[in-house]
Amino acid sequence: MTKNNSVQSKREYEIGFIGVGNMGAAILRGVCNHLYTSEQISITDAYQPKVDELVQDLGVKSFSTIKSLVASSSTILCAVKPNNFPEILPEIASEIQPDQLLVSIVAGTLTETIESYFSANIPVVRVMPNLPASVGCGVAALTAGRLANDSHLDKVRLIFNSVGTSVVVDEKQMDAVTGLSGSGPAFVFLFIEALIDSGVHAGLSAPVAQQLAIQTVLGASQMLAQSEIHPAVLKGQVTTPAGTTAAGLFELEKGQLRSVIASAILAAKQRSSELSEENQLKFIE
Ligand SMILES: NC(=O)c1ccc[n+]([C@@H]2O[C@H](COP(=O)([O-])OP(=O)(O)OC[C@H]3O[C@@H](n4cnc5c(N)ncnc54)[C@H](OP(=O)(O)O)[C@@H]3O)[C@@H](O)[C@H]2O)c1
Repeated sequence: MTKNNSVQSKREYEIGFIGVGNMGAAILRGVCNHLYTSEQISITDAYQPKVDELVQDLGVKSFSTIKSLVASSSTILCAVKPNNFPEILPEIASEIQPDQLLVSIVAGTLTETIESYFSANIPVVRVMPNLPASVGCGVAALTAGRLANDSHLDKVRLIFNSVGTSVVVDEKQMDAVTGLSGSGPAFVFLFIEALIDSGVHAGLSAPVAQQLAIQTVLGASQMLAQSEIHPAVLKGQVTTPAGTTAAGLFELEKGQLRSVIASAILAAKQRSSELSEENQLKFIE
Protein backbone atom coordinates (compact mmCIF):
# COMPACT_ATOMS: atom_id res chain seq x y z
CA MET A 1 0.00 0.00 0.00
CA THR A 2 1.40 3.46 -0.92
CA LYS A 3 0.91 6.40 1.38
CA ASN A 4 -1.88 8.78 0.50
CA ASN A 5 0.24 11.95 0.14
CA SER A 6 -1.58 13.44 -2.82
CA VAL A 7 -5.16 13.73 -1.51
CA GLN A 8 -5.89 17.29 -0.40
CA SER A 9 -7.88 17.36 2.82
CA LYS A 10 -10.21 20.22 3.68
CA ARG A 11 -8.74 20.08 7.20
CA GLU A 12 -5.14 20.17 8.31
CA TYR A 13 -5.11 16.49 9.35
CA GLU A 14 -6.55 13.55 7.42
CA ILE A 15 -7.30 11.62 10.60
CA GLY A 16 -7.50 12.40 14.31
CA PHE A 17 -7.52 9.68 16.98
CA ILE A 18 -9.46 10.22 20.22
CA GLY A 19 -8.01 7.53 22.52
CA VAL A 20 -4.71 5.83 21.72
CA GLY A 21 -4.84 2.89 24.14
CA ASN A 22 -4.36 -0.70 22.98
CA MET A 23 -6.59 -0.62 19.91
CA GLY A 24 -6.28 3.07 19.01
CA ALA A 25 -2.46 2.88 19.06
CA ALA A 26 -2.47 -0.33 16.97
CA ILE A 27 -4.61 1.32 14.26
CA LEU A 28 -2.56 4.52 14.51
CA ARG A 29 0.67 2.60 13.84
CA GLY A 30 -0.86 0.80 10.84
CA VAL A 31 -2.22 4.04 9.37
CA CYS A 32 1.11 5.79 9.96
CA ASN A 33 3.07 2.95 8.31
CA HIS A 34 0.80 2.36 5.32
CA LEU A 35 -1.77 5.08 4.65
CA TYR A 36 -0.94 8.62 5.75
CA THR A 37 2.24 10.50 6.59
CA SER A 38 2.79 11.49 10.22
CA GLU A 39 2.05 15.14 9.26
CA GLN A 40 -1.46 14.05 8.26
CA ILE A 41 -2.27 12.43 11.64
CA SER A 42 -3.35 13.91 14.98
CA ILE A 43 -4.02 12.29 18.37
CA THR A 44 -5.42 13.07 21.79
CA ASP A 45 -5.74 10.90 24.90
CA ALA A 46 -6.47 11.40 28.59
CA TYR A 47 -3.20 9.59 29.42
CA GLN A 48 -0.45 12.08 28.50
CA PRO A 49 2.61 9.72 28.79
CA LYS A 50 1.11 7.54 26.05
CA VAL A 51 0.58 10.60 23.83
CA ASP A 52 4.17 11.77 24.44
CA GLU A 53 5.53 8.32 23.57
CA LEU A 54 3.58 8.14 20.29
CA VAL A 55 4.48 11.72 19.30
CA GLN A 56 8.15 10.91 19.95
CA ASP A 57 7.97 7.56 18.16
CA LEU A 58 5.83 8.44 15.12
CA GLY A 59 6.09 12.23 14.79
CA VAL A 60 2.29 12.73 14.77
CA LYS A 61 0.64 15.93 16.08
CA SER A 62 -0.99 15.88 19.51
CA PHE A 63 -3.87 18.01 20.79
CA SER A 64 -4.67 18.64 24.44
CA THR A 65 -8.42 18.92 23.81
CA ILE A 66 -10.94 16.88 21.86
CA LYS A 67 -12.46 20.05 20.40
CA SER A 68 -9.19 21.24 18.83
CA LEU A 69 -8.53 17.79 17.35
CA VAL A 70 -12.05 17.60 15.89
CA ALA A 71 -11.78 21.11 14.44
CA SER A 72 -8.69 20.24 12.42
CA SER A 73 -9.16 16.57 11.35
CA SER A 74 -11.18 15.31 8.35
CA THR A 75 -11.86 11.88 9.86
CA ILE A 76 -12.22 11.44 13.62
CA LEU A 77 -11.59 7.93 14.93
CA CYS A 78 -12.95 7.37 18.42
CA ALA A 79 -11.21 4.54 20.33
CA VAL A 80 -12.16 5.12 23.97
CA LYS A 81 -13.79 2.63 26.35
CA PRO A 82 -17.60 2.41 26.21
CA ASN A 83 -18.01 4.04 29.66
CA ASN A 84 -16.10 7.16 28.49
CA PHE A 85 -18.10 7.57 25.27
CA PRO A 86 -21.20 9.34 26.74
CA GLU A 87 -19.04 12.15 28.16
CA ILE A 88 -16.97 12.54 24.97
CA LEU A 89 -19.78 12.61 22.40
CA PRO A 90 -21.16 16.05 23.42
CA GLU A 91 -17.65 17.52 23.01
CA ILE A 92 -17.34 16.02 19.52
CA ALA A 93 -20.88 17.16 18.69
CA SER A 94 -20.10 20.78 19.59
CA GLU A 95 -17.40 20.99 16.90
CA ILE A 96 -17.97 18.41 14.15
CA GLN A 97 -19.34 19.49 10.74
CA PRO A 98 -21.11 17.55 7.94
CA ASP A 99 -17.96 17.53 5.73
CA GLN A 100 -16.24 15.35 8.36
CA LEU A 101 -16.57 11.65 9.17
CA LEU A 102 -16.85 10.04 12.60
CA VAL A 103 -15.55 6.48 12.96
CA SER A 104 -16.31 4.64 16.20
CA ILE A 105 -14.71 1.38 17.36
CA VAL A 106 -16.47 1.67 20.73
CA ALA A 107 -18.05 -1.72 21.41
CA GLY A 108 -21.80 -1.91 21.83
CA THR A 109 -22.69 1.68 20.90
CA LEU A 110 -25.17 1.85 18.00
CA THR A 111 -24.71 4.32 15.12
CA GLU A 112 -28.23 5.57 15.92
CA THR A 113 -27.13 6.47 19.48
CA ILE A 114 -24.06 8.30 18.20
CA GLU A 115 -26.11 10.16 15.57
CA SER A 116 -28.62 11.26 18.20
CA TYR A 117 -25.94 13.58 19.66
CA PHE A 118 -25.58 15.56 16.42
CA SER A 119 -27.89 18.36 15.31
CA ALA A 120 -26.07 18.51 11.93
CA ASN A 121 -25.94 15.67 9.37
CA ILE A 122 -22.73 13.91 10.39
CA PRO A 123 -21.75 10.65 8.63
CA VAL A 124 -20.90 7.87 11.10
CA VAL A 125 -19.23 4.49 10.50
CA ARG A 126 -19.10 1.92 13.29
CA VAL A 127 -16.33 -0.67 13.28
CA MET A 128 -15.59 -3.84 15.26
CA PRO A 129 -11.85 -4.53 14.90
CA ASN A 130 -10.02 -7.40 16.61
CA LEU A 131 -6.84 -7.88 18.62
CA PRO A 132 -4.53 -9.20 15.82
CA ALA A 133 -4.72 -5.65 14.38
CA SER A 134 -1.81 -5.05 16.79
CA VAL A 135 0.38 -7.24 14.54
CA GLY A 136 -1.16 -6.09 11.25
CA CYS A 137 -3.34 -9.22 10.92
CA GLY A 138 -6.71 -8.01 12.19
CA VAL A 139 -10.12 -8.29 10.62
CA ALA A 140 -12.58 -5.43 11.02
CA ALA A 141 -16.32 -5.41 10.38
CA LEU A 142 -17.73 -2.04 9.27
CA THR A 143 -21.29 -0.81 9.32
CA ALA A 144 -22.56 2.47 7.88
CA GLY A 145 -24.73 4.84 9.86
CA ARG A 146 -27.76 6.58 8.33
CA LEU A 147 -25.70 9.25 6.52
CA ALA A 148 -22.54 7.35 5.60
CA ASN A 149 -22.22 6.47 1.91
CA ASP A 150 -19.97 4.12 -0.09
CA SER A 151 -17.14 6.64 -0.30
CA HIS A 152 -17.14 6.95 3.51
CA LEU A 153 -17.03 3.15 3.81
CA ASP A 154 -14.18 2.99 1.26
CA LYS A 155 -12.24 5.55 3.30
CA VAL A 156 -12.72 3.53 6.50
CA ARG A 157 -11.80 0.27 4.76
CA LEU A 158 -8.46 1.85 3.76
CA ILE A 159 -7.83 2.70 7.42
CA PHE A 160 -8.56 -0.82 8.69
CA ASN A 161 -6.87 -2.55 5.74
CA SER A 162 -3.67 -0.94 7.01
CA VAL A 163 -3.88 -3.33 10.02
CA GLY A 164 -5.35 -6.37 8.26
CA THR A 165 -8.54 -6.89 6.25
CA SER A 166 -12.13 -5.62 6.47
CA VAL A 167 -15.72 -6.56 5.63
CA VAL A 168 -18.95 -4.55 5.52
CA VAL A 169 -21.95 -5.91 7.46
CA ASP A 170 -25.43 -4.82 8.54
CA GLU A 171 -25.45 -3.31 12.02
CA LYS A 172 -27.78 -6.06 13.28
CA GLN A 173 -24.95 -8.54 12.59
CA MET A 174 -22.47 -6.75 14.87
CA ASP A 175 -23.15 -9.05 17.85
CA ALA A 176 -22.44 -12.10 15.66
CA VAL A 177 -19.22 -10.41 14.49
CA THR A 178 -18.25 -9.86 18.12
CA GLY A 179 -18.91 -13.54 18.86
CA LEU A 180 -16.81 -14.77 15.93
CA SER A 181 -13.92 -12.40 15.18
CA GLY A 182 -14.02 -10.21 18.32
CA SER A 183 -13.86 -13.05 20.85
CA GLY A 184 -12.38 -15.49 18.30
CA PRO A 185 -8.67 -14.81 19.00
CA ALA A 186 -9.17 -16.04 22.61
CA PHE A 187 -10.87 -19.21 21.33
CA VAL A 188 -7.92 -19.84 19.00
CA PHE A 189 -5.46 -19.19 21.87
CA LEU A 190 -7.28 -21.88 23.87
CA PHE A 191 -7.14 -24.29 20.90
CA ILE A 192 -3.38 -23.69 20.51
CA GLU A 193 -2.84 -24.13 24.26
CA ALA A 194 -4.65 -27.48 24.02
CA LEU A 195 -2.44 -28.51 21.07
CA ILE A 196 0.70 -27.65 23.07
CA ASP A 197 -0.45 -29.53 26.19
CA SER A 198 -1.42 -32.55 24.07
CA GLY A 199 1.95 -32.48 22.29
CA VAL A 200 3.68 -32.58 25.67
CA HIS A 201 1.38 -35.42 26.75
CA ALA A 202 2.41 -37.24 23.56
CA GLY A 203 6.12 -36.93 24.50
CA LEU A 204 7.35 -33.64 23.00
CA SER A 205 9.21 -30.96 24.97
CA ALA A 206 7.10 -27.86 25.74
CA PRO A 207 9.11 -25.47 23.48
CA VAL A 208 9.00 -27.91 20.56
CA ALA A 209 5.25 -28.53 21.07
CA GLN A 210 4.66 -24.75 21.20
CA GLN A 211 6.55 -24.09 17.96
CA LEU A 212 4.79 -26.98 16.18
CA ALA A 213 1.34 -25.89 17.42
CA ILE A 214 1.66 -22.19 16.55
CA GLN A 215 3.17 -22.81 13.12
CA THR A 216 0.57 -25.48 12.32
CA VAL A 217 -2.31 -23.05 12.98
CA LEU A 218 -0.50 -20.21 11.16
CA GLY A 219 0.34 -22.46 8.17
CA ALA A 220 -3.16 -23.93 7.90
CA SER A 221 -4.66 -20.40 8.04
CA GLN A 222 -2.23 -19.16 5.37
CA MET A 223 -3.17 -22.09 3.10
CA LEU A 224 -6.85 -21.19 3.44
CA ALA A 225 -6.25 -17.46 2.97
CA GLN A 226 -4.09 -17.96 -0.12
CA SER A 227 -6.08 -20.75 -1.84
CA GLU A 228 -9.63 -19.51 -1.12
CA ILE A 229 -10.59 -23.22 -1.01
CA HIS A 230 -13.22 -24.21 1.58
CA PRO A 231 -11.59 -25.84 4.65
CA ALA A 232 -13.70 -28.99 4.21
CA VAL A 233 -12.06 -29.54 0.79
CA LEU A 234 -8.52 -29.07 2.14
CA LYS A 235 -9.35 -31.36 5.08
CA GLY A 236 -10.50 -34.05 2.64
CA GLN A 237 -7.30 -33.66 0.62
CA VAL A 238 -5.07 -34.36 3.65
CA THR A 239 -7.10 -37.28 5.06
CA THR A 240 -5.89 -40.70 3.90
CA PRO A 241 -8.42 -43.54 4.35
CA ALA A 242 -7.70 -45.35 7.63
CA GLY A 243 -4.73 -43.02 8.22
CA THR A 244 -3.55 -40.99 11.21
CA THR A 245 -5.54 -37.83 10.38
CA ALA A 246 -8.76 -39.82 9.91
CA ALA A 247 -8.24 -41.41 13.35
CA GLY A 248 -7.76 -37.99 14.97
CA LEU A 249 -10.69 -36.36 13.14
CA PHE A 250 -12.97 -39.21 14.29
CA GLU A 251 -12.12 -38.38 17.93
CA LEU A 252 -12.76 -34.65 17.38
CA GLU A 253 -16.18 -35.40 15.87
CA LYS A 254 -16.98 -37.89 18.65
CA GLY A 255 -16.12 -35.15 21.19
CA GLN A 256 -18.53 -32.83 19.36
CA LEU A 257 -15.93 -30.15 18.64
CA ARG A 258 -18.21 -28.50 16.05
CA SER A 259 -21.18 -28.10 18.39
CA VAL A 260 -18.94 -26.91 21.25
CA ILE A 261 -17.54 -24.19 18.95
CA ALA A 262 -21.03 -23.23 17.77
CA SER A 263 -22.20 -22.95 21.41
CA ALA A 264 -19.19 -20.75 22.25
CA ILE A 265 -19.84 -18.35 19.34
CA LEU A 266 -23.57 -18.14 20.11
CA ALA A 267 -22.87 -17.54 23.83
CA ALA A 268 -20.43 -14.73 22.95
CA LYS A 269 -22.99 -13.23 20.52
CA GLN A 270 -25.70 -13.35 23.23
CA ARG A 271 -23.37 -11.72 25.78
CA SER A 272 -22.46 -9.00 23.28
CA SER A 273 -26.15 -8.27 22.78
CA GLU A 274 -26.74 -8.06 26.56
CA LEU A 275 -23.74 -5.75 27.05
CA SER A 276 -24.95 -3.54 24.18
CA GLU A 277 -28.32 -3.17 25.87
CA GLU A 278 -26.67 -2.31 29.22
CA ASN A 279 -24.44 0.17 27.37
CA GLN A 280 -27.43 1.87 25.68
CA LEU A 281 -28.92 2.48 29.13
CA LYS A 282 -25.79 4.49 30.13
CA PHE A 283 -26.58 6.96 27.35
CA ILE A 284 -30.11 7.44 28.65
CA GLU A 285 -29.06 7.89 32.34
N1 LIG B 1 -8.93 -4.12 22.56
C1 LIG B 1 -9.63 -4.83 21.69
O1 LIG B 1 -9.30 -5.97 21.30
C2 LIG B 1 -10.89 -4.23 21.07
C3 LIG B 1 -11.57 -4.90 20.05
C4 LIG B 1 -12.70 -4.32 19.50
C5 LIG B 1 -13.17 -3.09 19.95
N2 LIG B 1 -12.50 -2.48 20.97
C6 LIG B 1 -13.03 -1.21 21.45
O2 LIG B 1 -12.01 -0.26 21.32
C7 LIG B 1 -12.17 0.73 22.33
C8 LIG B 1 -10.82 0.97 22.97
O3 LIG B 1 -10.38 -0.25 23.57
P1 LIG B 1 -8.90 -0.37 24.11
O4 LIG B 1 -8.69 -1.78 24.48
O5 LIG B 1 -7.95 0.28 23.15
O6 LIG B 1 -9.03 0.53 25.42
P2 LIG B 1 -7.89 1.33 26.19
O7 LIG B 1 -6.58 0.66 26.02
O8 LIG B 1 -8.40 1.58 27.58
O9 LIG B 1 -7.83 2.72 25.40
C9 LIG B 1 -8.77 3.75 25.53
C10 LIG B 1 -7.97 5.06 25.66
O10 LIG B 1 -8.87 6.17 25.61
C11 LIG B 1 -8.44 7.09 26.60
N3 LIG B 1 -9.50 8.02 27.03
C12 LIG B 1 -10.46 7.87 27.97
N4 LIG B 1 -11.18 8.99 28.08
C13 LIG B 1 -10.68 9.88 27.20
C14 LIG B 1 -10.98 11.22 26.85
N5 LIG B 1 -11.97 11.89 27.46
N6 LIG B 1 -10.25 11.84 25.89
C15 LIG B 1 -9.26 11.20 25.29
N7 LIG B 1 -8.89 9.93 25.58
C16 LIG B 1 -9.60 9.27 26.52
C17 LIG B 1 -8.00 6.21 27.75
O11 LIG B 1 -7.20 6.93 28.67
P3 LIG B 1 -7.22 6.45 30.24
O12 LIG B 1 -6.68 5.06 30.24
O13 LIG B 1 -6.36 7.45 30.92
O14 LIG B 1 -8.67 6.49 30.66
C18 LIG B 1 -7.21 5.14 27.00
O15 LIG B 1 -5.87 5.52 26.78
C19 LIG B 1 -13.21 0.20 23.34
O16 LIG B 1 -14.42 0.90 23.18
C20 LIG B 1 -13.38 -1.24 22.94
O17 LIG B 1 -14.73 -1.64 23.10
C21 LIG B 1 -11.37 -3.00 21.52
